[in-house]
Amino acid sequence: MGKTYRIGVIPGDGTGPEVTAEAVKALKALSAKRSLDFQFTEFALGGELYLKEGVLLPDEIIADLQGMDSIFLGAIGHPDVKPGVLEREVLLKLRFEMDLYINLRPVMLFPGVETPLKDKGPEDIDFVVVRENTEGLYAGGGGFFKKGTPDEVALQEAVSTRKGVERCIRYAFEYCRKRDEKKRLTLCGKTNVLIFESDLWHRVFYEVAKDYPEIELDYQHVDAISMWMIKNPESFDVVVTTNMFGDIITDIGAMVQGGLGIAAGGNIHPGGIGMFEPIGGSAPKYTGRNIINPLAAISAAQMMLDYLEEDEAGKDLLEAIKKVTKNDLKSMEAGKMGFSTREVGDLVVGYL
Ligand code: IPM
Ligand code: MN
Repeated sequence: MGKTYRIGVIPGDGTGPEVTAEAVKALKALSAKRSLDFQFTEFALGGELYLKEGVLLPDEIIADLQGMDSIFLGAIGHPDVKPGVLEREVLLKLRFEMDLYINLRPVMLFPGVETPLKDKGPEDIDFVVVRENTEGLYAGGGGFFKKGTPDEVALQEAVSTRKGVERCIRYAFEYCRKRDEKKRLTLCGKTNVLIFESDLWHRVFYEVAKDYPEIELDYQHVDAISMWMIKNPESFDVVVTTNMFGDIITDIGAMVQGGLGIAAGGNIHPGGIGMFEPIGGSAPKYTGRNIINPLAAISAAQMMLDYLEEDEAGKDLLEAIKKVTKNDLKSMEAGKMGFSTREVGDLVVGYL
C-alpha cells in the first residue's frame, strides 16, 4: 500500500451529493490502481442540517476538518434558505477559518468540449486564475447608516492587507514558475479607479517580481481582461487578482472552458490543507435527477491529487477525464450529455 490520506467529504446541498459520489468513485478506482489508501469521513453540512437543526458550521467540525489531509466539497446553497446565510456562514467561513487564502481556478478547454469562442481550441484555452480568497470585499466590513430612511447610507469596505496581498502574489509567481508554460503572470486590478486597493496590489506585484526575473509581467484592468479572456484567451498563462474580481472573471473563465459542468477549483492554504470543489453550485433544478455533469467534481478530485503531490494518480485521472470529453459526452450540459451522472462516473472509471 502507498500513502494513506484522510479525506473530509462535505457532499452539501442540491446536486452536491450526486457529483461528490462520482468524484469519490473515481478516487476509489485510483486507489486500487495506484495503491493509495483514501479514508473518507463525511460531514453533513449545508442547507438540510441548517433547516432541521439550525446548525451552520460549529467549531468542532472546523477542527475535525483541519485534522484531515484534504477536503472535498460538493456544493453549498439551498433554495429554502435566505441568500447569504449558507454562503457566508458555511462556505466563506470554511475558507476564512482555515485560512484557505488561495482560490485556484484553472480555465482549461478539454478535447471535444465546445467553447462559445469561435475558432478557439484546447491549445488556446489553457490558463489559471489565482484568486485571493480571504480578503477584499469578502471581508464583510461596512454597515448601514439611517437604514430604511430616505437618507440611508450603505458602506461596503474592501480590506487588503500587505501580508494578504503579498502571500497571494508570491504564490502566483511560484505557481507560474512551476507550471512552466508561457511563464507570464498577469495582474488583474483597476488602478485607474481603486487608488488604494489596486495601488497596493500593483506595488507589491512589481516588488515581488524582482525575485522572479524569468517571468514576464503583465497588468490588465479587470474590465479589459474580461474582453481579452474572450478575444485572446491564448495570451494568458497565470492571472492573479483580488477576491471579488477573481469571483467574476472565473465565471467568465468557466463559460470559456465549456460551462459550469466542467469547471473546478481549489481553496488552499499553501503548505497546508486544501478544499476542492466543482464551482457550479448546488443547481436545485437538477437535484436528484441523475442528469448533472459530474466532471467538474471529478476534475476537483484531480486537483486534489495534484495538490497532495500524487502526480501519477493525478495524471491518470486527467487523462481519463479527457478521454470521456473527447470520445463520449455529447455536451457538458445537464441532461444533454447522452449519459446520466452515474454513467459519466462509470466512463471515467472505465478509462482508469
Ligand atoms: C464562488 C461562489 C461564492 C463566492 C459564493 C457562493 C459565496 O460564487 O465560489 O465563486 O462568491 O466566492
Ligand atoms: Mn463565484
